[in-house]
Order: sequence, then structure tokens, then C-alpha cells
Amino acid sequence: MMTAPLKHSDVTVVDVALGERTYDIVIGRDVLQSLGARVASLRPGVRTAIVTDRTVAKYWLEKTEASLNEAGIASSRIVVDEGEGSKTYACLEKVSEALISAKIERNDLVIALGGGVVGDLAGFAAAILRRGVDFVQVPTSLLAQVDSSVGGKTGINSPQGKNLLGAFHQPVLVIADTAVLDTLSPRQFRAGYAEVAKYGALGDEAFFSWLEANHADLFKGGAAREHAIATSCRAKAAIVSRDERETGERALLNLGHTFGHALEAATGFSDRLFHGEGVAVGMVLAAEFSASLGMIAPSDAARLKRHLADVGLPTHLQDIAGFAQEGLADADALMNLMAQDKKVRRGRLTFILLEAIGRAVIAKDVEPARVRDFLKAKLAGKN
Ligand SMILES: NC(=O)c1ccc[n+]([C@@H]2O[C@H](COP(=O)([O-])OP(=O)(O)OC[C@H]3O[C@@H](n4cnc5c(N)ncnc54)[C@H](O)[C@@H]3O)[C@@H](O)[C@H]2O)c1
Ligand SMILES: [Zn+2]
Repeated sequence: MMTAPLKHSDVTVVDVALGERTYDIVIGRDVLQSLGARVASLRPGVRTAIVTDRTVAKYWLEKTEASLNEAGIASSRIVVDEGEGSKTYACLEKVSEALISAKIERNDLVIALGGGVVGDLAGFAAAILRRGVDFVQVPTSLLAQVDSSVGGKTGINSPQGKNLLGAFHQPVLVIADTAVLDTLSPRQFRAGYAEVAKYGALGDEAFFSWLEANHADLFKGGAAREHAIATSCRAKAAIVSRDERETGERALLNLGHTFGHALEAATGFSDRLFHGEGVAVGMVLAAEFSASLGMIAPSDAARLKRHLADVGLPTHLQDIAGFAQEGLADADALMNLMAQDKKVRRGRLTFILLEAIGRAVIAKDVEPARVRDFLKAKLAGKN
């Protein structure tokens, strides 16, 4: 097991190995200051446009612009409303037109400064602008630093479903400044932490134990934060470089997400349940469902639940606000929502199940009846 260094290490660079699309994720406290110099050495003389949201702009836009300015990099700003509501056709149009007005051309760069919403939106706008302009991710939420900025998925939502429009478009550089997370709300930080714990649960028991011992320092912004983010990025980068287009192994990253997405949909993708919170409840359900199939020891499922509860994440259906009132307490309604998940093929459910903490498996062809029985028992408080 690795122990956290006692002081902040300078900078950690995680390499995402994708042939000619290989890029670096630069992780560390205050690395945002180095953005301009890094962009200047990557693309001398480049013009940039920073896409961000209002909240992130308030805290971090000036620092970002100052860094670019000091390195002699021209930049313009495009500010959208914060929140999932910006992943729409209308907002994509607004950003795309602003990029054209800002004269961002084929060799220029779009800079996505924000959480997963801005990363997905700006990344997609870059992917389609002039048939593809490169972009840099400056992820500012924990979720974006460990998940959405790694792997190249970009996109927006359709009125008919989340992330239904998009493209694979890898960034050319990712700058993950861990100090930027200090302005994130504690609840958003916790939600992002669910994805950090996910990497331990799905493939790295030693990391999971390390998180059990070091999560407090990570939440406080100590050196454990850098280590956890770097370990998470490495885990995702390794999987993505082996399976960029999700034909196999990349699906493991969906641990907790089939249940989680159904819960998010049931709560209308609202503030009542953040994505990471849905993933936390979803991971516990996946572990308990695995235990009901005899795949994982019940004590391991309980260990996962305990850790998520320790950091203050919801772990139980009943933890979700308005749970009883809105059809959430109905196994068939949840089954219907799961059937709409885009990972479903012809009625059969693919689930990521656990054999142990640190060992997830892809289970295709899970019989819906078994899931329904499990959920019914769960909702009746029988397990
Ligand atoms: N592309 C992928 O692979 C991938 C993976 C996971 C999630 N996603 C997408 O990511 C989105 C969720 O990302 P998110 O949780 O980062 O949401 P988000 O981008 O909406 O950010 C959450 C909130 O935190 C605020 N915020 C962000 N950084 C801040 C900071 N440093 N200080 C203060 N406030 C800050 C934002 O303004 C927003 O209100 C979803 O749309 C999801 O579909 C994409
Ligand atoms: Zn997720």
C-alpha cells in the first residue's frame, strides 16, 4: 500500500497514452499558474478562447487569463450559465457562434475552464468547430479532475436523454489544479469523491484501503488530494488507453452507474441528487446485488457502504430526498428507467458487478427478473 507524502509534491504528470493523441494531465497545487507557459510551449503564437460558467468565472477566470497573458497568449472569454441546463443545443449554438466570432481557427485552442458540464460542452463545440479544433481542459470540480476530463468523451443532452449527442475528442493537455477545488461546495466535492472511491472499488483494493485511511486529508486539501487525483486519473487513463471507444473493459468505469442513472432520472436530474451521489447509492446497490447473487462476500459489500457513508455520501435509496413520494419506491418504475439507459441492448441489462473490493466484472445478460426481485426486497427493507 502506498502512503501519502507528508508534504505537497510539486507536480504530478499522468500520461494518457493514445498514440498520436497522447496527452499529459498535470496535477498539483497552483498548477493553474503554469497554464500560459505550457500552452505557449505546446502551441507558440496560438489564439485561445476560454469557455467557462458564471460561478467558475467568478473565482478562477481572472487567474486563468493572467497566466495566459503573462505568457503572451491572446484569449477571449465565453461565459455560460452554470449547471446541466447548459448542455443543450441552444448553448452549443451560443458557444459555437462565440468561438467563430473570436476567430478561433484550425490551429487555435479552446480552453474548457469548469466542471464536467463546461468540459463536455466546450469539448464538443471544439470537436465540431471547423471539423475539429484542439482543446485544453482545466477541470475545476473534483468530478471533472478525476473523471470527465480524462478519456475524451464530449457532448450535450437531448430533450430525450442525457449525453445522446457527442463525439470522442481528446484534449491536448489537462491542467488539474487541486487548489481550485477549495472553492467547490462541500456537497459537490463529496459527490466527486464517489468517483474516486469507484476506482478503488472497481480495480484497486490497495487504493481503497488507502482512501479509508486518508480521506480526511483529501477533503481538507492536504497532500492526499493530489495523490488520490493522480491515482484516479492513472486508473482511468490505463483503461481508456486500452479501450478508447468502450468496446469492452471501459464499461467497468460504469460501476454503480446503471442504478445511479435510473435514480438520477427518477429525481429529474435535479439538485436533489447529484451525479456522484447517484453513483454512491448505485455502487452500494451493485455491491449488494452482487452479494445477493453470491458473487461477493456480504462483508465486502458492507465495507464499501461504510466507507461511502463515512464521508457523508448517501448509500441507501431512503437517503434520497423525496424518495417515497415520487415513484422511486417502486421497483418497476426503476426497472423502466434502467431499460432506457443507453448501455442497454435489446432488453438485456449489462451490469458491472463486484467479486471483491478491487475486482469488478462486466455481467452481460443479467436477467431483469433478478434485478427486480432484488430491488423489491430492498424497497421492502428486507436486505
Ligand atoms: N465526459 C465524460 O467522460 C464525463 C464523465 C463524467 C461526467 N460527465 C459529465 O459531467 C457533468 C457533471 O460534472 P460536474 O459534477 O463537474 O458538474 P458541473 O460542471 O455542473 O459543476 C458542478 C457545479 O460546481 C460549480 N463549480 C465547478 N468548479 C467549481 C469551483 N472550482 N469552485 C466553485 N464552484 C465550482 C459549477 O459552477 C457547477 O455549479 C455531467 O454533465 C456529466 O454528464 C462527463
Ligand atoms: Zn460518473
